Amino acid sequence: MTSFDPVMADLDPYCNAVVRRLSLTTRQQREEGFRAAGYNPFRLPARLVTIDALSDSGTGALSIEQRAASARADERYATSESWERFAGALRSLSGFEHIIPCTQGRTAESVVFSTMLSAGQFSVSNTHFDTTSANVQLAGATPVNLPCPEAADLDSDHPFKGNIDVAALEALLAGPDGHRVGLVLMTITNNGGGGQPVSIANLRATREICQRYRVPMFLDAARYAENAWLVIRREAEFADATPREVAGVEFDLADGFVISLKKDPMSPGGGAIGIRDENLAAAFRGRVIATAGFATYGGMTGETLEEAAQGIEESVDPAYLRSRERTGQLLADVARDAGVDSIRPAGLHAIYLNAGRLMQHIPPAQFPGHSLAVALYLQGGIRSSELGSLYLGELDDEFRLVTPAPFELVRLALPRRVYTENHIRYVGSVLAEVAKDPQRWPGYRIVRAPAMLRPFEAWYDQVPAQ
Ligand code: F0G
Repeated sequence: MTSFDPVMADLDPYCNAVVRRLSLTTRQQREEGFRAAGYNPFRLPARLVTIDALSDSGTGALSIEQRAASARADERYATSESWERFAGALRSLSGFEHIIPCTQGRTAESVVFSTMLSAGQFSVSNTHFDTTSANVQLAGATPVNLPCPEAADLDSDHPFKGNIDVAALEALLAGPDGHRVGLVLMTITNNGGGGQPVSIANLRATREICQRYRVPMFLDAARYAENAWLVIRREAEFADATPREVAGVEFDLADGFVISLKKDPMSPGGGAIGIRDENLAAAFRGRVIATAGFATYGGMTGETLEEAAQGIEESVDPAYLRSRERTGQLLADVARDAGVDSIRPAGLHAIYLNAGRLMQHIPPAQFPGHSLAVALYLQGGIRSSELGSLYLGELDDEFRLVTPAPFELVRLALPRRVYTENHIRYVGSVLAEVAKDPQRWPGYRIVRAPAMLRPFEAWYDQVPAQ
């Protein structure tokens, strides 16, 4: 649907077709459950979570059209009809001829980086997502993040804080290490950088530099539609464009892309690679066949190919994106009214709370973001995740903080088409209760944790207030 009576402009364009009952819990159940889980939200049983804001990945509600599409899944090994529909949808959205399906976004990253990067090289990005960084490193290369300077001010309303610092990119390419840059990866929207969008002007400038220095430019396109929506809202040239048109412009500027189909395409699983170069396409297909599945399903089921194909169409519906923007804005507003600041301006897939500012009584070494995430759960059954010194800081062998993260944040991710205004207002009331007397919430220390993937596997204990 592309046009409708303006009287309906602020109407959420969905109603429930199938529902899941929320788990309603007691404070005692939450206290006991979280203690038994070592205060790690990734270990906490989901059945004890009431509002799940841990991730927007694979968590969207399927539409009845997606369910209907999955009923016609063709599971044949090669060249299935589901593959044709999926490839057709992604080709038409992106304009890329070579589409290679795979199991998730991170599989796509692994395939691309292990083919294109070698030891000693750099992958340069506005900000690599965590699995993306890990896959660059597994390829023997080094991830370099060059976020624009405006991103450092959490409170400013700069419209495109997801941009790359083009001057820094050019300086790197022109300098003595320039020859080491293997590729440039633009993450749209910039998840590691507060869910902020990247402007088309910034993508164009990056493209021009990449062409001049003969470096391939890739997109990490997990949130292409949400980025397109924020371009329409914030970049004058595109005020009258459709989300599909802007997504087309984003993809046009790239030599290749990796995508998780679990975000904007609202699929429960799947990922893909798009590439223009035929030789690279053949190399990627070879790796996908060896590690994920034949090159026309890549480890995805026919059902997932169908759900993703339909989800791609739905992802660029302006009425949907508009309602998603309203949800993000409402969450930022209720948080502010509760006395909790978040990264401005509000994005679409998540709101990033400024835990460092709220939990000033907790030093970074005791993880103020984690303290807020635990408080949100204990107070109201809301699951979120820390994005601060726990996640990004440097710790020694005894888990003592050596270098803190620049900010202590908590991400409240917004699953697509799942929570209503009532749920968001509930989050606001829980935040208000938590923020009333923040001093009562303790800090945390790590009791044990593995060397790799620390936040997912760690056990924590409370550090009583002094
Ligand atoms: N790139 C970005 C920007 C992402 O946000 C994610 C996943 C991936 C790649 C990896 O894709 O999960 O399909 O393997 N982000 C999720 C999140 C996990 O919660 O932000 P995947």
